[in-house]
Amino acid sequence: MSATTVSAQTLAIHGGSPVRASFLPYGRQSVDEADIAAVVEVLRSDWLTTGPKVAEFEEAFAVRVGAAHAVSFSSGTAALHAAASVAGLKAGEEAITTPMTFAATANCVLYQGATPVFADVRGDTLNIDPEQIEKKISPRTKAILPVDYAGHPAELAPILEIARRHGLIVIEDACHALGAEYSGRRVGSIADMTVFSFHPVKHITTGEGGMVATNDPQFAETLRRFRNHGISSDARQRQTAGQWHYEMVLLGFNYRLPDIVCALGIQQMKRLDANLVRRREIAALYTKAFQEIFSVIPPTVRAEASPAWHLYPIRLDLKKLTADRTQIFRALRAENIGVNVHYIPVHLHPYYRERFGYKGGEFPMAEDGYTRLISLPMFHGMSDQDVQDVIRAMTKVMSCFAR
Ligand SMILES: Cc1ncc(COP(=O)(O)O)c(C=O)c1O
Repeated sequence: MSATTVSAQTLAIHGGSPVRASFLPYGRQSVDEADIAAVVEVLRSDWLTTGPKVAEFEEAFAVRVGAAHAVSFSSGTAALHAAASVAGLKAGEEAITTPMTFAATANCVLYQGATPVFADVRGDTLNIDPEQIEKKISPRTKAILPVDYAGHPAELAPILEIARRHGLIVIEDACHALGAEYSGRRVGSIADMTVFSFHPVKHITTGEGGMVATNDPQFAETLRRFRNHGISSDARQRQTAGQWHYEMVLLGFNYRLPDIVCALGIQQMKRLDANLVRRREIAALYTKAFQEIFSVIPPTVRAEASPAWHLYPIRLDLKKLTADRTQIFRALRAENIGVNVHYIPVHLHPYYRERFGYKGGEFPMAEDGYTRLISLPMFHGMSDQDVQDVIRAMTKVMSCFAR
C-alpha cells in the first residue's frame, strides 16, 4: 500500500498506524507500595511459610466470600485437586464438567484417577447447561464441577438441586469469579466447595495461589491435611504446643501457600471491592460502545447474576463480517490491543482427543462459541484511555471488515 493511501483508518495490519503505541495486555496485576512493604515485613520475620499470615489471609477471605472456612493452596489447580480428592473422587467414578474452561478444571478429575464427563454449555453465558448435566448423570457420577465462565456465576440453583437429588457433590470452579454474586448470595458461600485462583490476571494476586471455600468443617479439615502431606497438624501448631509428634493420616501433597505471599494476599484483599467496581465500569463502557457495532455480541448478564468480570469475551457475528476470528484477532493485535481467546474447549486438546477419542462435534454450543470468541483487555488497572483505545481499535477493525 502506498503512503498516500494510508489514513488513520488504515488498519495497522495493512500498514497503517496502530491505535496505540504500546501493547495493552488482556490482563495484568496491580501491586502497590503497601503490598511490597507487607511482603518485606514477612521476609524479615521468623515465618516464611505456614506461619501467622496463612490463617490471617484465610480468615479475611472466608469473611469476604461468606464461607465458614477458607483453605489456601499453592495454586488454583492445587485447590481443585484437593477439592476433587476431598469429594472422594476415585478410579471408576465420574465428574461432570464444562468443556468451556481452562484444562485444569477437568484435569483435577484425572488426577484422582476418575473420568471427566463433559456437558455442553448455554448459548448466552457459555456456562454449563443444567439440562445437559442431567443427561450425563450415570451410576458412576460423584460430582459436578461447574465453572463461572468469565466471572459470570454458573446456574447454581438448578445445579445444586440436581446434585441433591442424585447425592452428588458440587465443586464450583470460581477461579474467574471472586466477588461475584448469584441471586444475592456470594460466590464461595453456595456450593459444597468453591475454588479460587490468585494468578496475576485474577481479581487479586499472590503470584501463584488458590483457595477452597466451604461451609463444611469436615471438608475444611481434610483440605488442610491434603495440602500438607496428609499430616494431622502443621509445623507451627506443633511448635506452639511444644510437641514433635505428628501423624500422616492420608496421602497428601505439599500444596502450601507461603506466608510471604499470604501477606500479599491480605493486602490485595483490601482492594478487592475497588477492583470489582473498576471491572464493572469497564464492562459497562464496552457493552455500551458495542451496541453500535452490529458484528459484535457482548457477553450476556443474567438477571440473577452479578459477575466479577475476570474476562470480557465478545463473540463475533461472522455473517456480518468479511473476515474470520483469526483475521480479526491479528488485526486487533496489530493495533497493539492484547486480545486473547478463552477457551479452546477442553475435549479438543490433543491429550483429551487421544485419551478419550473426541473428534469435535460432540459439544456444538461450546465449539461454536470457541470459533467466534475474542477476550478483550479487562483488568482493574486499566485507565480510561486504555478502555477508549480498545473501543477505538474495535470500531476501526470491525468497520473495515463489515459486510
Ligand atoms: C477456570 C480456571 N480454573 C482453574 C484455573 C487454574 O488456576 P491456577 O492458574 O491458579 O492454577 C484457572 C487459571 O487460570 C482457570 O481459569
